[in-house]
Amino acid sequence: MIESFQVHGGQIRHLAEHFGIPASQLLDFSANINPEGPPSAVLAALRASLDDLSIITSYPDIQEAELKQSIAHYVGVSHQNIVVANGFAPLLKAALHALPIRRCLLPVPAFVEYRKTLECAQVHITPYILRPECDFHYNTDEMLSGEQDAILLANPQNPAGVACKREALVHLVAGATERNVYILLDEAFVDYLPEDSLTRDIGSFPNLVVFRSVTKFYGIPGLRVAYAAASPHIASALNECLPPWLITTLASRAASAALEDESYVSRTRLLNYRRRTQLQSEIEALNIGTYPSAANFLLFRLPSFVDPVAFWERMISEHHIVLRSCLNYESLPKGHLRAAVRNDQENAFLVKAVSQVLAKFP
Ligand SMILES: Cc1ncc(COP(=O)(O)O)c(C=O)c1O
Repeated sequence: MIESFQVHGGQIRHLAEHFGIPASQLLDFSANINPEGPPSAVLAALRASLDDLSIITSYPDIQEAELKQSIAHYVGVSHQNIVVANGFAPLLKAALHALPIRRCLLPVPAFVEYRKTLECAQVHITPYILRPECDFHYNTDEMLSGEQDAILLANPQNPAGVACKREALVHLVAGATERNVYILLDEAFVDYLPEDSLTRDIGSFPNLVVFRSVTKFYGIPGLRVAYAAASPHIASALNECLPPWLITTLASRAASAALEDESYVSRTRLLNYRRRTQLQSEIEALNIGTYPSAANFLLFRLPSFVDPVAFWERMISEHHIVLRSCLNYESLPKGHLRAAVRNDQENAFLVKAVSQVLAKFP
């Protein structure tokens, strides 16, 4: 049985209760959050907001004009292309309400909220199975050959972090446009490789909706800010399907401050690249397979003699390290666990713990 604390990463309170370990002693590698914490401008914006009582005694701006402007500036499109909400799932739900989507191709394994949201909207799902031995490669011609009216995919993907080159995605979206197929593209982790993003291409593709997150890259998942970018026509249709005031003024100010910090962006990319490549080579040296991730996490393929559930449990009970149990990833073969890239010291601690737990399996 899959326990509720295994459905998503980051379920620390629940795991602490289950394992009888204080939450403060667990080191969370299961959620892919920037280990540097938010830019200092975020905390400054939050503190300054609290000095102005009207921030909480008034309703937020119903248009979220300032936040949309900051996002538009950051991604290089117009504010009319931007829709904001308190997370990815409400945005996807709005898109499924607003657009004539009845059948959707869903490459799997993928973020579990995709299937859940599609099913709630009564969209018929055709799974498209990605193969680990091909590094979860998207065959864009194959993906276009079905009868669907939408394709919901991620770049980079979750759980492997593998990225698809921009040219291949442009080919997919162009082919989809000819066939009147919507492309719902989740770029929650694309800030790590902006060169492969299609956000700026929304002007060329009337059938493209790109979803992005402010939570992971800027280390603020508790504030809940996400956005979608699409043609002004689709953007206003999505807005019609969203309740008002989804984002508090506090969260909105904090997110705007985060998006303005350019040096944080370049530093994060650089640090993550260096840490990820080091962690990857150290994990592979232990005879654990990985995939070519472009994001801030790695998918581990344990040797076949290792029981992944026992391994995951021992990492928690013996080392207080929480990895992402991958039991609920559709079509992902047994034996996988996902780990976030954290700071150098924490990554070294992870490698040591993995090597010690591995040695306990015959
Ligand atoms: C691929 C992917 N997309 C979207 C999300 C949700 O992001 P947000 O926090 O912006 O709702 C997640 C969260 O883990 C994710 O992994």
